[in-house]
Amino acid sequence: MKNESNVNSYARVFPTVFESASGEIITDQNGKKYLDFFSGAGALNYGHNNPELKQALLSFLEKDSVVHCLDMDSVVKGTFLEKFEDIILKPRGLNYKVQFTGPTGTNAVEAAVKLARIVTKRKKIVAFTHSFHGMSATSLALSGSCEENQKVNPAQDVIFFPYADFFGEEVNTIEYLKKMILTPGSGLELPAAVILETIQAEGGINVASIKWLQELRQFTQENGILLIVDDIQVGCGRTGNFFSFERAGIIPDLVLLSKSISGFGTPLSLVLLKPELDQWKPGEHNGTFRCNNLSLCTASKALDFWKDGALERKISANAQTIKVRLEELLAKSEYIVAVRGMGMIWGVEFISGQIAKEVSASLFEQGMLIERCGNDDQVLKLLAPLTISDENLAEGLNKLAEHVLNLEVAAVMTV
Ligand SMILES: Cc1ncc(COP(=O)(O)O)c(C=O)c1O
Repeated sequence: MKNESNVNSYARVFPTVFESASGEIITDQNGKKYLDFFSGAGALNYGHNNPELKQALLSFLEKDSVVHCLDMDSVVKGTFLEKFEDIILKPRGLNYKVQFTGPTGTNAVEAAVKLARIVTKRKKIVAFTHSFHGMSATSLALSGSCEENQKVNPAQDVIFFPYADFFGEEVNTIEYLKKMILTPGSGLELPAAVILETIQAEGGINVASIKWLQELRQFTQENGILLIVDDIQVGCGRTGNFFSFERAGIIPDLVLLSKSISGFGTPLSLVLLKPELDQWKPGEHNGTFRCNNLSLCTASKALDFWKDGALERKISANAQTIKVRLEELLAKSEYIVAVRGMGMIWGVEFISGQIAKEVSASLFEQGMLIERCGNDDQVLKLLAPLTISDENLAEGLNKLAEHVLNLEVAAVMTV
């Protein structure tokens, strides 16, 4: 848009002017409707303008509830903390304190890494190949997938290790990590923390195995290295459970939540920390926009979706539908190299970024939003709202299949 900086990105991928949205449908100013398989990059797990969350927000405003009070105590903060403990933490046997950081995901990353360094009195942080943790200085330094961008922000005190099956299934990357960290003379000192996504989203939908996650937890625990799980994109139900690490039965030392934690697309970020790690001095990590009360209002309401198991069952059923359809497509299309994912985050890897670009652009023309990821942007990332209707899920998958099966090499190569 006029006067907007060149740095804008998504308006180039989805070039129209959006005006309204409801559930999994987003509508532009010309009235054209798009089926949203992008979900605000994971910030809209419950869809656009979810009616229950919207109602909670309208009542909150109607009562002139306090909208901004930094991290002063408010009724809505108390409600959120209580419900988060009762509905999310206790039933999972988790004991975390909650730190409200600045509003975006990268603020949570910065806070967690800073705390890990304070607590351990060590500097180095282990991050993984193809990781993405955000765009502020520390987060960028931890993001293997941002090599180019890192040149203006050189990584300091970050050690990159190969993620789960970086070398394929044959190489045990945990053994490599252990040996490098523990062998005197390897050149590596003991790190303060390891930070990871249990499924790398921006990195190309790379799924760490349960065994890999368990071995990483065991090794870090035995050696006093803090384990930070960045659940900013794949938490809040995206992989099927509220937390993405539940499938491995591990308990991280610190967990980062953002994106869909507010439930409504408004900003909110949290660090969950084991109580003994809460060694902050009051005010040692500050910020004007922590505890956004509008976000806390919808976040509290959204926790109700996790009370009775219905949402988990829906995600599980959707996951099965998506898996079957994508595997069919893999078998039929010469342009697809792999499909992978779980819950409601799935990747379709094409033989090139160019083909994935053509598919995403054509589907946009046909009224559908799907983003790309991976080192060559060669992976289509299917990220529909968890609450999508069965009909719209089927329609999106049909559109994708129809388009991919009718791809013509010549047309693709001219893109
Ligand atoms: C795993 C992960 N961590 C951190 C971030 C950064 O979040 P934000 O863009 O809100 O700063 C993202 C954003 O996509 C992410 O996917």
